Amino acid sequence: MRAVVCAVVLFTVVGCVASTSKGVQTAQAQTTAGPADGEKLFERRCGGCHSLDKDKEGPRLRGVYGRKAGSVPGFDYSASLKSSAVVWDGPTLDTWLTDTDSLVKGNNMEFSVRSKEEREAIITFLKSAAGR
Ligand code: HEC
Repeated sequence: MRAVVCAVVLFTVVGCVASTSKGVQTAQAQTTAGPADGEKLFERRCGGCHSLDKDKEGPRLRGVYGRKAGSVPGFDYSASLKSSAVVWDGPTLDTWLTDTDSLVKGNNMEFSVRSKEEREAIITFLKSAAGR
């Protein structure tokens, strides 16, 4: 019985080490590992309402990093976002994705991302999509 438990534990440990080193290799192979994760998260979390180059329920987001809030021509923003003085950068995007109302009260985006890691990955992706 003890031997079986040991074998299972050993197998799990070996399995873990093997998959961890595989993860590291993958991350090293693609230098864009961060943005790649962010891209997937962006598609999964934001893609229902946003795309990089097309306005949907939300405005197109390529170049949003560094852009003044509410400034995509022709997009029907809330009055509050349009008239805000926010410029999108790391800290403003992080606050927005944590709780949009805490940054701009009365905006039209009802969505948030709980995980700090996910917010960071998405922001890194938006930054790289803006060529920054
Ligand atoms: C349920 C739909 C929906 C989802 C999901 C959503 N958004 Fe939005 N987003 C909107 C809407 C609508 C606006 C416009 C808000 C306004 O006019 O007040 C907006 C606006 C924005 C803006 C401001 C853009 C500008 O031009 O000023 C940013 C940045 C943004 N969203 C990022 C994101 C990110 C990143 C995600 C995913 C983590 C996301 N949004 C998910 C609907 C959504």
